[in-house]
Amino acid sequence: MPSLVSLPKNPLIGTVKVPGDKSVSHRSLMLSALAVGESRITGLLEGEDVLATAHAMRAMGATLNRVDDGEWVVNGVGVGGLMSPDDIIDMGNSGTSTRLLMGLIASHAITVTMTGDASLRSRPMGRVIDPLSEVGAVFKARDDKFLPLTVTGTDMPVPLDYTTPMASAQVKSAVLLAGLNTPGITTVREKVATRDHTERMLKSMGADITVQDEDGIRVIRLVGQPELCPVNLEVPGDISSAAFLLVAASIIPGSDVTLENVGLNPLRTGIIEALKAMGASISIHNERELGGEPVADVQVIAAPLKGVVNLEVDPSTMIDEFPVLFCAAAVASGVSRFTGLEELRVKESDRLAVMAAGLRANGIKVTELDDGIDIEGCGGFIPGGGTVQTHLDHRIAMSFAILGQMANKAVMVDDASPIQTSFPAFVRLMTGLGAGLDVLE
Ligand code: S3P
Repeated sequence: MPSLVSLPKNPLIGTVKVPGDKSVSHRSLMLSALAVGESRITGLLEGEDVLATAHAMRAMGATLNRVDDGEWVVNGVGVGGLMSPDDIIDMGNSGTSTRLLMGLIASHAITVTMTGDASLRSRPMGRVIDPLSEVGAVFKARDDKFLPLTVTGTDMPVPLDYTTPMASAQVKSAVLLAGLNTPGITTVREKVATRDHTERMLKSMGADITVQDEDGIRVIRLVGQPELCPVNLEVPGDISSAAFLLVAASIIPGSDVTLENVGLNPLRTGIIEALKAMGASISIHNERELGGEPVADVQVIAAPLKGVVNLEVDPSTMIDEFPVLFCAAAVASGVSRFTGLEELRVKESDRLAVMAAGLRANGIKVTELDDGIDIEGCGGFIPGGGTVQTHLDHRIAMSFAILGQMANKAVMVDDASPIQTSFPAFVRLMTGLGAGLDVLE
């Protein structure tokens, strides 16, 4: 497997576009595959996770083609029109593909068997199996909760009124997507608001969906069996990918980077608030709307960061950005404490344990907590010299690639290949801005 070596080189200077948003890309393929007519999507993230969704939608009968200029043309089968694939579907590393598709399948009378890589096969599926069983789908899963699993959807789906037990946009979306081919009103209640790309996209495609605040609970109601209109969509840039550059340009002295076209959905922008709370210099320009989502250009100029103990940011608004924020904390001056992060233990890896191990291996003092981590910042360059185990987790690989840019001795990442899942252009884009990254095949 290709390893990656990260050593300081130059300040990061320039203007770049980050790849398309992963969450929006998945949903655009799934929902356009259920529309009636032809959709056109540009700026789609062509990472392995989204390609797994494309493959699955093809296997269930939709027509998806990438045309020459990078545009994707999708001919949908209509809500209710999915067919049983003639083979097992391999979801690779993608939890979002797996959980959202389980929702779609639950209310179609089809049978699908799914598997994935070692990381995905270790991730909990009970959180979607439970509500989707109430819809009427039948699951056969390894140990009742892991991939590989076979789901048989029902032709008599029951509309749920479901309160998500954890802050999870995947669970919410799985229930809503099951509600698409279900007569009646499907209701999802969230105690903590999570990214709302599914709700926004369904609305823009003509579904009858409402979102209300009822005594501090976010209540989403979807009227089932809509005819979804095809879309003409430009996918905004992914703030979760932008986060690596936001941290890199903040911590590498002399940097000045502008990221164009970044999606700034208010349920995704916690990383900007968190970095600002640590002293980062981030400014937003040219705010506009793209594909039903707010976007803007984001400029970041290097600034000394200080540790943060009581971060007043809702973790769900930056759930995927904590690994790279921990790297910012390692370079900052003073101690940081991050808590309320138990969900990080069930991501592509156990991100609390894996980050703690990687930081320690590079000379940083950390204490792993049940639901978080304490990090003693170095106030500048970190010792480095350690090898990080990525455990098939793209965000771990990229986080330590960034941290190595502020290390006295090279930071080694054991496996760079997971980066392909969400940010295939990462190394090229970073080195183009001035970073010192080498992939050793
Ligand atoms: C996602 C939701 C989040 C996030 C994941 C993408 C989505 O997962 O971590 O990368 O697109 O809905 P959870 O719902 O498990 O928090």
